[in-house]
Parts: sequence; C-alpha cells; structure tokens
Amino acid sequence: MRSSTDTMHLVAMVNPPTSQYSENWRHPLSRQDWLSAGFYTDLARTLERGCFDMLFLPDALAVPEDHAGSYDTTLRTGGKGSIYLDPVVTLATVASATTHLGLGATVSTTFTPAYLIARKLLSLDHLSGGRVAWNIVTSTTDAEAHNFGFEHIPPKDERYSHADEVVQTVLDLWEGWQPDALTLDGPSRQFADPAKVSRVPDGGRGLSRGPLTLPRSPQGRPVLMQAGASDRGLDFAARWADVVFAVAATAEDMRDQRRELRARAAAAGRDPDRVAYLPAVQPVLGPTRAAAHSALQELVDMLDLDDVLAKLARLLHAGPEELDPDLSAEDLLLRHAGATGSEGFERMLLDTARRERMTVQDLAIGQALSQLHYQPVNSPDAVAEELCELFDSGAADGFVVMPALYQSSLEQFVNGVIPELQRRGRFRRSYGSAGPAGAATLQERFHPAGG
Ligand SMILES: Cc1cc2nc3c(=O)[nH]c(=O)nc-3n(C[C@H](O)[C@H](O)[C@H](O)COP(=O)(O)O)c2cc1C
Repeated sequence: MRSSTDTMHLVAMVNPPTSQYSENWRHPLSRQDWLSAGFYTDLARTLERGCFDMLFLPDALAVPEDHAGSYDTTLRTGGKGSIYLDPVVTLATVASATTHLGLGATVSTTFTPAYLIARKLLSLDHLSGGRVAWNIVTSTTDAEAHNFGFEHIPPKDERYSHADEVVQTVLDLWEGWQPDALTLDGPSRQFADPAKVSRVPDGGRGLSRGPLTLPRSPQGRPVLMQAGASDRGLDFAARWADVVFAVAATAEDMRDQRRELRARAAAAGRDPDRVAYLPAVQPVLGPTRAAAHSALQELVDMLDLDDVLAKLARLLHAGPEELDPDLSAEDLLLRHAGATGSEGFERMLLDTARRERMTVQDLAIGQALSQLHYQPVNSPDAVAEELCELFDSGAADGFVVMPALYQSSLEQFVNGVIPELQRRGRFRRSYGSAGPAGAATLQERFHPAGG
C-alpha cells in the first residue's frame, strides 16, 4: 500500500530521430537538430524544470537490418536506430547544462569490456556530482555482432551469464576505492592510501584486475537500470537493478509484472522496495479529451501505409509477401517470434494483437505510432489522474515517459501534467536535500535514507 506521502519516479526516454513515433523526425512541431548538443541540453533543462528523475538515452551498436541483412529500409525511412549518438558522450553535455537531473546511459555488456564500462560511467558520475545510471543491456542483433568482428550475437542465456560477471566486476571496480581512500594529506605527503584501494576479487574473473583509476562515486555507485522481461531477464533484473524499465499494454499487465519482479527480488534476498518498476507510457495531450484525440489522429494521419508496413517487416524480419494488410497480426507475430530479441516487447505486441484482433495493418500503424506502448490520450489533468491511479493501485512505481514529439510533447507534459501530479502530492516540487556535490544524488532519489 502507498502512504499518502509516497511520490512516483519519472524518467524521460529520448530516442531521436524517431522517438517511439516514427514521424517525429519530419513533424513540424519537432526539432531536427538532434546532432547538436543544444537539442539535448534544451530537453534536459525542460526536464529539470519539471523535476524529472532522469533523462535516459537508449542505444544500439548497429543500424537495424531486415531479413535479408539490408539497412536500406531503416535509413530510407528514418527508422528507429538509424541514428545513435554515444550516450555517455551525449550525457556529458547534458551534465554541464543541468544540476540535478539524472543521466541514464545504455552500455552493452556483450560488446564493452568491464573496465571501459566502469571507467566511462564513473567519469561521468564524478563530473556530474553523482547523477549517473547505467542501463545494462546485452544487445540483441547479429548486426551488432558484425560491428565487433563476430558472426552472430551469442545466445541470450550466454549473454545474461556474461552480463552477471560483467556487472559484478564493474561493481567491484567502482567499489575498489574505499570512500576515504583519497586522503590528499599534504603534510604527510600522502595523496591516497593504497591500503584502502583493492583489486577486483577472484583474480578479476578474467575480465579486469583493477583497481580503477578513479575514486569512489559521489553517490556510492551509479544507479543500475535494466529492461529484460524474459525469465532469465527478470532474474537478472531482480538480482541487480535499482530501476526496471518495462513494457506493458494494460494496467493489469503492469500489476502482474511488478508483483513478479518484487517476488523475484525478495527471493534473491533483496528488499523489493529497492527495485523501482517503471512501465513505458506515451501520453498524447490536449486541452480536452476531444482535443487530445484530435492530436492523436493528426499523428496517425502523418503515417503512410506502405512505409509503416515496410518498417514492420524490418522489425519482424518478415518478407514483403507476408505484409498483406488484412491478414492476422497474431499469425505474423507467431511466425516471427524472437525476431526483435526482446521477449517482453514481443509478449506485449502479441497480447495486444490478440486482445484487439488486430490485422497486420493495425499492428503496423500501432508500431509506428507508439510501438503499442501504454498511451493515455486526454487532458493533462485526466492523464495525471490516470498515472496516479496506476501508482496508487500498485501497478507502477513511476513511469518512463516516451514523448511522441521532441520537444513539444515534453513541454506539454512538464507544463500540464507535472503540476497536476504535484497538486495531488504524487510528485516532487523540487529536488530537495543537498548531497555531496550540493544536490541530491540519483541514488538518494531512488533510495532515500531509511527508504
Ligand atoms: C523498453 C525497452 C527498452 C530497451 N532498450 C534497449 C536499448 O536501449 N538497447 C539495447 O540494446 N536493448 C534494449 N532493450 C533490450 C533489453 O535490454 C533486453 O536485452 C531485451 O529485452 C532482451 O531481453 P529479454 O528477452 O529478457 O526481454 C530494451 C528493451 C525494452 C523492453
């Protein structure tokens, strides 16, 4: 049960040029300067004005390919994944333009050595005064493997087992320096106390011996995030994650997933209250419910049927001959199970396709519009009420907000929904207490003292 003083977490996922809405890159209300630092720093200032917990950047290490190994569709249509700036580099610009906002960076355990992960993230963590979160991914595609000289992506179980070792090693590297190891004692000529710095245990597990060339994080260690939803993925999340990023089509699915995650965290010996479950939402807002539905219709009207079918085929690795718009979406999804590499995402697509008896055309439009993420369409007041109900009923600990248009949808959310959440006492009005660098760290925000 929530107490009357509990507040939700809000993370903004920023994924240009497409967002989760495929036409974002060519929409008149969107910015197109996503290769410039100003795009991210302006977004971040808006989020900080709204007291968001974090700006989160997803990542992939290859341009997504179709069933024949071609990247043509992705690049021609500006599909999701056609552009990815390095998240850590991008967030370094955001760090210098903000004071409190968390900085969530995706880094792959399959293709990045543990030492480099630990070093890159802890560097940004120091530079930002303890505001970094690591979105732990194992990568999903052969295209990514090809960019690192491998023929295939390793099987999922193998990737998760390796990720367990990598995460443990990164934590050991981060914790190798005791908090008081950097002494800077001029009179005794002691810079740091080597007795308070240790190597990675177990001989570094063949991954990294340590120690790292960086002292302990201002927030103890960066926050860990994860988005796996398969059986193995959930166990991984329950073992490591402070924040779990989820996809769920209905409130009931959210409630079930959260219950399952909390049970697994408890079984792994952790306090379930220290694992925040944040499902993705893509709100569409208008001054009234009718106006919000017109805004949604305008987003739909910008889609082109051939284009969205081509994107769906690319996503599912289906051939063009399978794209009869009137065929059953469920059949298509079942034939291509496993194509996206994300079990949680595919489960959501299949459940929704079944429940709503979708055709291939419906699925293609839903994918291009919102990726079928949970979508409140209403006035800011009503959307705030809906989010509060989900929070209060134990369906979520907060939300990953995936705005359709950068940055107009985020401005609308911050100007309209945030004040309504605050009025209901369900979201912070300021970032509050001072931490080591003059601002609360991200860890303190997710795990308040005594919380
Ligand atoms: C909402 C969501 C966001 C994700 N973001 C990324 C990402 O940015 N980069 C990536 O490589 N994988 C991403 N993934 C993939 C997951 O991290 C995970 O590797 C994938 O879902 C496979 O695990 P699973 O089958 O256990 O769900 C995401 C998955 C979901 C559901």
